[in-house]
Parts: sequence; structure tokens; C-alpha cells
Amino acid sequence: MILNAADIESMEQRRRAALVNSLSGFKSANLVGTANVRRATNLAIMSSVVHLGSHPPLLALVVRPGGEERHTLANILATGCYTINHVNSALVEAAHQTAARYPNEVSEFTATGLTPRWRDGFDAPAVEEAHVRMGLRLREHQELSINATHLVIGEVVFVELPDNSLRSDGSLDIAAADTVALAGLDSYYLTQPHKRMAYAKPDLPPREVSAQGELPAQPARGAPSVLGSS
Ligand SMILES: Cc1cc2nc3c(=O)[nH]c(=O)nc-3n(C[C@H](O)[C@H](O)[C@H](O)COP(=O)(O)O)c2cc1C
Repeated sequence: MILNAADIESMEQRRRAALVNSLSGFKSANLVGTANVRRATNLAIMSSVVHLGSHPPLLALVVRPGGEERHTLANILATGCYTINHVNSALVEAAHQTAARYPNEVSEFTATGLTPRWRDGFDAPAVEEAHVRMGLRLREHQELSINATHLVIGEVVFVELPDNSLRSDGSLDIAAADTVALAGLDSYYLTQPHKRMAYAKPDLPPREVSAQGELPAQPARGAPSVLGSS
């Protein structure tokens, strides 16, 4: 099947949104925790978190168009702080429910039974029940001229994670942390590790590494290559 631009344009609005929301593949499932200047809390599921750079550690978030009715955005702009909390398998129902349009005076923490977790000196709550939590300070905000969505760029200022999910090479084993993946706006997936690959170099073939990121022992000279071994 081929869908061209005219086919996509002529789709009924909800079907088009469902299709286009699936095109970017598996996405991360996150709860964005914020508070207003009176410390009234807000929580919203967001899947548009992208890595923007490691030094400084920057993550970008795309927030849908809309003004004051976007509580997460209003709070981020007011306090300059927010948290990103990975959704784990036990949190899917509550996390999904935070997408409901509650009035501003209703906290999604209360509505879903999740627990705000405050950190001294940081003006946004994290989610106690999440296994991976991080705090970000707003670094840049732009309303994009193409469709009035908001690009929110934040610097990670703290990360809280289970000890056993931090690998020896520094990476976070998100499957060990039970973080789920998202497709479209409604499909949640458990993850299963497949392969880890070594840093790609033009003069070397693809090499698999161990779960800890280590290369397998070098084969003896003349021995058959271990390429593709699993
Ligand atoms: C699976 C899923 C992913 C979502 N991802 C985003 C997102 O990346 N950006 C966004 O602005 N809204 C996203 N939403 C919609 C928000 O969760 C929803 O608009 C919510 O009511 C916003 O809450 P707020 O007004 O308190 O900020 C998503 C909804 C679902 C169900």
C-alpha cells in the first residue's frame, strides 16, 4: 500500500492523527511533572521527549499548541522547572489517564493516585512511583512557526534511578528499570533487549558487545571471525 500526500490530506481527522502519530516509531513514555507558583501540582503524559545533546545534558519536549489551557507549558514557563518520569509497566493506566483534560484546579496526581515527590530547592514534583525520575531547568522555549507547537528545551539537573539499572559504561538499562515504550497515542509496549552493538567505525565490521557494553575477547590470529555471533 502507498499513501501519498493527497491520501493523507483526505483522511478523516482522527484517522489521520492516528496514522501520523504512529509514523515516528516507538517513542518514550514519560510523565511531565510541574507546579504553578503556588505549588499546585500538574502531571501530563508526553511522548515527544528527544535527546538534544549530552554536554550540557539537554532534552527537548514538544508541547501541543494552545495557550493557558496547556497547564504543563504554563507551569514550566512560570517556574522554569519540570520533571520527566519514565512510565513503568505498573504505571500505564494512571499515566494514560493524565491525558484527560482536567480543569486547572484539579491535580492529575490526586486524580490518578500518584504521589508527588519534592526535592529541596526544586520547584517541580517528580513521581514517587516512577523508577527513573529527572529534574530539568528550562533553557530555551520556542513557538514553532510551522504549526504553533512549542519546543521546550531543558537541562537535566538531577537523575534518580535504580542502582541496578546503571551499566558500567554509564548507560541506563531502561529495560531493567521496567520503562515501557509507546506507539501512537494509545499503545504501550513492554521491552525486550535484542542486541548491543559496538561504536561503528568505517574500517571495522559491525560488532556485537555484551549487555554491559564490553567487546568479546579478541579471537586468536587466524581464528574465524566472531562477527554476528549472538
Ligand atoms: C500517549 C500520549 C502521549 C502524549 N504526548 C504528548 C506530547 O508529547 N506533547 C503534548 O503536548 N501532549 C501530549 N499528549 C497529550 C497530553 O497528555 C494532554 O494534552 C494533557 O491533557 C496535557 O495536560 P496539561 O494541560 O496539564 O499540560 C499525549 C497524550 C497521550 C495519551
